[in-house]
Amino acid sequence: MKQKLRDEFSDYYELAGGKDYRFHHLIRTHRYVLKLVERPEINDLEFDLRVLEVASLFHDIGRKEDIEEGFLDPIEAHEGHAETGEEIVEDFVSDILSDKDISKVKEIIGNHHSEPEKVETKILQDADTLGFFGPMNIWRMIHYASDKERELEETFEYFWTEGRRQKQEKLESLHFESSKRIARRRLQKFEETMNEIEKEHYGEDI
Ligand SMILES: [Fe+2]
Ligand SMILES: [Fe+2]
Repeated sequence: MKQKLRDEFSDYYELAGGKDYRFHHLIRTHRYVLKLVERPEINDLEFDLRVLEVASLFHDIGRKEDIEEGFLDPIEAHEGHAETGEEIVEDFVSDILSDKDISKVKEIIGNHHSEPEKVETKILQDADTLGFFGPMNIWRMIHYASDKERELEETFEYFWTEGRRQKQEKLESLHFESSKRIARRRLQKFEETMNEIEKEHYGEDI
């Protein structure tokens, strides 16, 4: 399954991520799902782990077409990829899942950016969103800023205003307390790292 994904995404390049970013995002989201389901709060719920695992690995498969059509900016490419994913995912998983499970995976993927109905969709949404809070996003910020020819100070300004506001809003939208705790910890580390970079820039660490 992972090899299939690598084949589909490895040649693609996107803004705020670069080469292979989408492939690694899918692998990471799957990894986060496996960690989240160990938390008692989530483990006690009823869900189909196999369906959830496959859905998490393929949840952004719809972006493949966006990227092929040249929408390299993740903000522009975002629109409609859940619906596209729902339409095309069957081609990638029909040899490993029953028809019943395929329709469950399709529903979860089609729903992964809207109000969730299934427990599986909630878990996937939290795992997907967890990638948004930690210092790893510095890589994405630098990549994006570099393409847009933004200055370092503009990036600081963006982070402490709009960027931070978006993260706090996303944190509140998480479904499980366990996810919120992880997100808070990651966001705190992100802010500490940004503070350190700023201190260095202005010589305040000397
Ligand atoms: Fe998505
Ligand atoms: Fe995603």
